[in-house]
Amino acid sequence: MENPMKKSLLAAGLAVTLVSGSALAQMKPEVMVKQRQAAMTLQGKYFGPMAGMAQGRIPYDAKIVQRNAGFLDNLSRMPWDGFADSTKDVKSAALPTIWSESAKFAEAADRMQSEASKLYAVSRSGDEAAVKAQIGAVGKACGGCHESFRQKQ
Ligand code: HEC
Repeated sequence: MENPMKKSLLAAGLAVTLVSGSALAQMKPEVMVKQRQAAMTLQGKYFGPMAGMAQGRIPYDAKIVQRNAGFLDNLSRMPWDGFADSTKDVKSAALPTIWSESAKFAEAADRMQSEASKLYAVSRSGDEAAVKAQIGAVGKACGGCHESFRQKQ
């Protein structure tokens, strides 16, 4: 028998998709590029100190890691809808491969989100070695995507 709850959740999901889809269609491509770059910049702001701690360049501070990991977990969901087709021709550091290999790009985005979620969870564990290892995993996920999809700086 069909689950009516599941059905209404699906309908609600579809409504959200359609609404956000049309909201995005109305947004200026230049604004979307600025916003995705802002989300990336903030990821860098909150990831940078954690990378420094994992590499021993900055003294380890579990409280800062917990806070930054929480911010990063949220930020890691924000840039992706800013890579809409309508932004293809706006000048930016985004490579055309984002749109020609969109499945690979989505996979790289998913990987980073999942590593950031894991970091959030492990940052609450008090296991410094595990936290540092997971910071490394997040860094790899950032770098892996930049390698394939961002213009060399
Ligand atoms: C799935 C791909 C992908 C992942 C994962 C990713 N980035 Fe990016 N990043 C990009 C692309 C593409 C750009 C260029 C965007 C543009 O110019 O519009 C970018 C740009 C940036 C910028 C420059 C922003 C600016 O103002 O131009 C920073 C900083 C940055 N990323 C940090 C990070 C950090 C830190 C992580 C990991 C926590 C990360 N990124 C993960 C694809 C990714």
